[in-house]
Amino acid sequence: MTQNSIEQLRGDLLAAISAAGDSSALEEVRVSALGKKGRITALMKDLGAMDPEARKAFGQQVNALKAEVGSALESRKQAFEAAALNARLTTETMDVTLPVRPETEGSLHPISQTMDEIAAIFGVMGFEVAEGPDVEDDFHNFTALNFPPGHPAREMHDTFFLQDADDGERYLLRTHTSPVQIRTMMNAKAPIRIIAPGRTYRCDYDMTHTPMFHQVEGLIIDTESHMGHLKGCLAEFVRTYFGVDNLPVRFRPSFFPFTEPSAEMDIGCSRQGGELKLGDYGDWLEILGCGMVHPNVLKACGLDPDVYQGFAFGMGIERIAMLKYGIPDLRTFFESDLRWLRHYGFSALDVPSVTGGLNR
Ligand code: DAH
Repeated sequence: MTQNSIEQLRGDLLAAISAAGDSSALEEVRVSALGKKGRITALMKDLGAMDPEARKAFGQQVNALKAEVGSALESRKQAFEAAALNARLTTETMDVTLPVRPETEGSLHPISQTMDEIAAIFGVMGFEVAEGPDVEDDFHNFTALNFPPGHPAREMHDTFFLQDADDGERYLLRTHTSPVQIRTMMNAKAPIRIIAPGRTYRCDYDMTHTPMFHQVEGLIIDTESHMGHLKGCLAEFVRTYFGVDNLPVRFRPSFFPFTEPSAEMDIGCSRQGGELKLGDYGDWLEILGCGMVHPNVLKACGLDPDVYQGFAFGMGIERIAMLKYGIPDLRTFFESDLRWLRHYGFSALDVPSVTGGLNR
């Protein structure tokens, strides 16, 4: 192979590259030059038979040719790609003003809606929303809430325990939202005014129990809030939430390890004719647990019970959603039945607020 024929080959290949009309024609040129049986590849094979002096000179020429052809191929390829992208950008258009979907699909689950309503009502009263983890430790779920070790109240919670952890701690799925009280008191400074909605877990399943359900916790800590404030706050909540202005409330003494005194709150109702109606009808329905935060709980969180005091409450979100929206079976909340969701779901635009309305 002579200098001239290398020049010739160079001219042929560069001409073929610029003549290639599309990327598959270009690929053919590449194979014809650099493929296994390509013309440049054939030159490399010739090298073996040459004497060292000639091989060196010829090898340099072939390598230079190979590099030049390679970069010509690459820049032509990039030109094709850029042209293809440009063509797509000019032909593929999209009208971003069109509705995302022609029909209204998807709705807010009644639990989400209820949590939003609860946050809207307590928000107006100055409560902030706090959160805690679903996987808790024994300290936050029980001990700091004044459940003594071995106390039967622990058993009543039907706790799901996790496998023993390497750190020796026995983790569990929180059985109530009350551990968020502990986390808040340990991390925030008084005055504290929070609600903590979220998932809770107990090993139980029937018409009124599912292994996962939702609660909302409330907590006020300052130096003067008392049982009177607790009553006013919760009466205001149920009247706004259920949309019944004259809804009577009553408080019955009860027991929770983490409150003293403890109470259960009932709201007025009627069960006549098998139908439940809320209002001043003489009958009563239990709705939530509450009380003054126990001194031992304050101490466990590093607060001086001679200085700080406050109240707490906790209620089941499914329960109050069932009452408000007439949902008879708690288990249906979590069956993901589309017909049920369409019936009980809420439009995403139905944002609950105390001013805009909770009961639209
Ligand atoms: N944690 C209680 C439960 O799951 C509910 C409760 C009752 C929470 C009274 C409170 C309270 O904060 O004061 O049954």
